[in-house]
Amino acid sequence: MSVSDSVIVNRLRAAGCVFAEDEARLLLSAARTPDELDAMVARRVAGLPLEQVLGWAEFCGLRIIVAPGVFVPRRRTEFLVRQAALLIRGDASPGTPREGMTRPRDVIVDLCCGAGAIGAALAAAVDRAEVHATDIDPAAVRCARRNVPAPWGHVYQGDLYEPLPAGLRGRVGILVANVPYVPSGEIRFLPPEARAHEPRVALDGGPDGLDVLRRVAAGAPEWLKPGGHLLIETTERQAPSAQAAFVTSGLTTRVAGSDDLDATVVIGRLTVRGARDSAGG
Ligand SMILES: C[S@@+](CC[C@H](N)C(=O)[O-])C[C@H]1O[C@@H](n2cnc3c(N)ncnc32)[C@H](O)[C@@H]1O
Repeated sequence: MSVSDSVIVNRLRAAGCVFAEDEARLLLSAARTPDELDAMVARRVAGLPLEQVLGWAEFCGLRIIVAPGVFVPRRRTEFLVRQAALLIRGDASPGTPREGMTRPRDVIVDLCCGAGAIGAALAAAVDRAEVHATDIDPAAVRCARRNVPAPWGHVYQGDLYEPLPAGLRGRVGILVANVPYVPSGEIRFLPPEARAHEPRVALDGGPDGLDVLRRVAAGAPEWLKPGGHLLIETTERQAPSAQAAFVTSGLTTRVAGSDDLDATVVIGRLTVRGARDSAGG
């Protein structure tokens, strides 16, 4: 690093950036001019998350476009992607199409998609996927439209299932949702980067953090196909209450966890009987 590069490292370190050297390297490679570099360092020193300054976050080996004010995809959510990809591959193997026939595309729905990281990663991880993603925040939707592009990506703005095309009802094989799940009373303990630069609607899950999760679970049987799965990230502490919400909706449940990524995912499956009960109202 040159002397001017070390000045950047020192500015970042003084602002509390723990990985100042790595961040400096990323900022140096992203800036096209010295003025742009100076502006980027200033934004980072002012507390913007590095990913919002760079304009992208690394997720499952992809560069996900992230604009200022949009939730930054977390590495722990890669575990949810892995679990969903395993289920899709498991579903795909027994019914290998006969010669001349093409396997139908897996229908994946990503609710509360934010920048679209989960949908984009699943589209990249599985052979033939059709991804439908929704978010209530217009800034997130603008990012997601770039990260989950047409023709097989479709991104809609609105409340949970409301903007999805009616034709998807009963056809969704994988329904993923990384909903806001921080209990309202714990928002104040989040790092300042999240509190100040990610929207409250992306973080606040209500009194016990499970308000949005319960709504997603309640709506799932209407959209899942028989045998389809719902996967939602929670904390380990929330998992039993989340499972109870899945069971109330007629889904069978299990919990998967990763110590490495500090990640917990509640996985539900709509059985044929659950689908029949839901169709019967
Ligand atoms: C924790 S962030 C997760 C974003 C993305 N899934 C990810 O993992 O990077 C939650 C997202 O849910 C969205 N959201 C919150 N309430 C919503 C609702 N009722 N309908 C649709 N999206 C909602 C927020 O705008 C935010 O983008």
